[in-house]
Amino acid sequence: MPTRAPEVRSVFSAGGVEVLAASLAVSRPRLVGLAAMLTDDERRRASALARPLARRFAATRGLLRELLGARLATKPELVDLRVAPAGKLYAPGPVRFNVAHSADLAVFAFTLRRDVGVDVERVRALPAFERTAALALSPRENAELQELPEPCRLQAFFSCWTRKEAYLKARGVGLSIDPRHAAADGNRWALETFEPAVGFVGAVCTERAA
Ligand SMILES: CC(C)(COP(=O)(O)OP(=O)(O)OC[C@H]1O[C@@H](n2cnc3c(N)ncnc32)[C@H](O)[C@@H]1OP(=O)(O)O)[C@@H](O)C(=O)NCCC(=O)NCCS
Repeated sequence: MPTRAPEVRSVFSAGGVEVLAASLAVSRPRLVGLAAMLTDDERRRASALARPLARRFAATRGLLRELLGARLATKPELVDLRVAPAGKLYAPGPVRFNVAHSADLAVFAFTLRRDVGVDVERVRALPAFERTAALALSPRENAELQELPEPCRLQAFFSCWTRKEAYLKARGVGLSIDPRHAAADGNRWALETFEPAVGFVGAVCTERAA
């Protein structure tokens, strides 16, 4: 069983996928320790960001390196992280993974030899809710949203959106394709929703075994 940092906890595990969540509000010494695991390129990326984003990036990437290092039996700083053309991270070998963050929470999904995507969102009021929903969801999904009682709509929107984004991230295409028309084929992809912390919704999309 891979070792796990104290801020990391399991939030979903079934069907060959494991999802972990971690608070990014780590102490200063812990942040320094996580940042020490970053490569020079990753440090350069962090230093180009505004401070809160740099902190979030360094904490997420350091935790990812730590979790992958435990799974690959290598030191976190030596994990060979590579970036696919549309931005998805991968490491050579059988372990597949994906990362997402929202506010001070990060989620990490791990599988063996199966494509995986994960997303998380803090459920929050959106200033232009209906317009955002129209740009993000299909006409049918929007119609279903409108049928719900008004107080349920935000939660339902984020639940639908995270499932869509997890699917697009599993495929590695992200938002380079129009999310309104993105729908996972259930024969090929398994989608699960989870609640990684109070006030957050997450989804994980995993390629089904052949
Ligand atoms: C992937 C994407 C949907 C993430 O959106 P987001 O809600 O801002 O961020 P999330 O918290 O969900 O996920 C961020 C993580 O997703 C991963 N990621 C980035 N691009 C990805 C992709 N195409 N597929 C899967 N995962 C991706 C990264 O690990 C990233 O974390 P990092 O920035 O710390 O490395 C969005 O960044 C995107 O669409 N990127 C694609 C950009 C694109 O179209 N590129 C085309 C170049 S040809």
